[in-house]
Amino acid sequence: MAAVTYLLFFSSLLTMISGGMGAATFTFSNNCQYTVWPGTLSSAGRAALDTTGFALQSGESRTLNAPTSWSGRFWGRTLCTTDSTGKFSCGTGDCGSGQIECLGGGAAPPATLAEFTLNGDQNMDFYDVSLVDGYNVPMLVVPQGGSGGNCSTTGCVVDLNGVCPTDLRVMLAQSDGASENVACKSACEAFQTPQYCCSGAYGNPNTCRPSSYSEFFKNACPRAYSYAYDDATSTFTCVSANYLITFCPSTTSQKSGENPQAVPPLTNDTMVFLGGEEVGQMSLAAPPLATTVLSLVVPALFWLLLRLF
Ligand SMILES: *[C@@H]1O[C@H](CO)[C@@H](O)[C@H](O)[C@H]1NC(C)=O
Ligand SMILES: *[C@@H]1O[C@H](CO)[C@@H](O)[C@H](O)[C@H]1NC(C)=O
Repeated sequence: MAAVTYLLFFSSLLTMISGGMGAATFTFSNNCQYTVWPGTLSSAGRAALDTTGFALQSGESRTLNAPTSWSGRFWGRTLCTTDSTGKFSCGTGDCGSGQIECLGGGAAPPATLAEFTLNGDQNMDFYDVSLVDGYNVPMLVVPQGGSGGNCSTTGCVVDLNGVCPTDLRVMLAQSDGASENVACKSACEAFQTPQYCCSGAYGNPNTCRPSSYSEFFKNACPRAYSYAYDDATSTFTCVSANYLITFCPSTTSQKSGENPQAVPPLTNDTMVFLGGEEVGQMSLAAPPLATTVLSLVVPALFWLLLRLF
């Protein structure tokens, strides 16, 4: 009993110290069936973390410490290889360094991003998962031990590559000659217009509105940024938290619990993905034509038979 009390005392003391110092730890966990190479990019004027890029095998985790007031972003690179000249590059999220370390390079879109600003206004951490630069891998951010604000889990936990609208799709040829959907562009990246990119005359929240493309992302991942001015439903705040960042979280374990505040749901249960197609509940509820015809013909035949005998 005494030992347990001591342990509790010291762990809360440690939490207080680390919380008080304002630093945070980020734990990256790869739940994908494949290797992910996380990239880290500090904002201008902020120190680089211990690593700017590393490999994370399926099932592996790694923790990084960030100093007080750190700000920057994380993403996952996929389908990376080293060529015969020793140059490292990735099928998605490549940072252009030619090495596993990104060394100040950012993610080539499309890439799912986790963005953090620690110890901002009122000492709160601000964080979000963004699909503004498109999507390549499911990501979940879980704050741990934090308080205040709307300190909730966020992320985009569904696999959007297979259901990505045709004009946003990124395909990559595989070694066997087949091609695979590996990422999903944002409309800004695909069409490069001020409307979709919220630039020029569309550079403010009144003129830049959601599009059918941004709504595709928002419907699938209601807590993630789907376009530049999606702040209200996509920015989260926490005080003194550490963060667990999971690639390919299992969606089933994330559906319930948590969420004391009025924040959007993490997943959209009315959006059903079937065989690579997005199917709304409406179309699911409508039976196929054959069933409809049968359901009319069978009772009619029955009625006829009853009349005859
Ligand atoms: C869920 O998706 C449906 C259809 O795709 C959409 O009409 C609805 O607004 C979405 N719900 C949320 C909470 O985003
Ligand atoms: C969380 O709180 C921040 C700060 O008060 C607010 O700007 C944001 O809209 C909130 N996010 C959600 C998803 O409600």
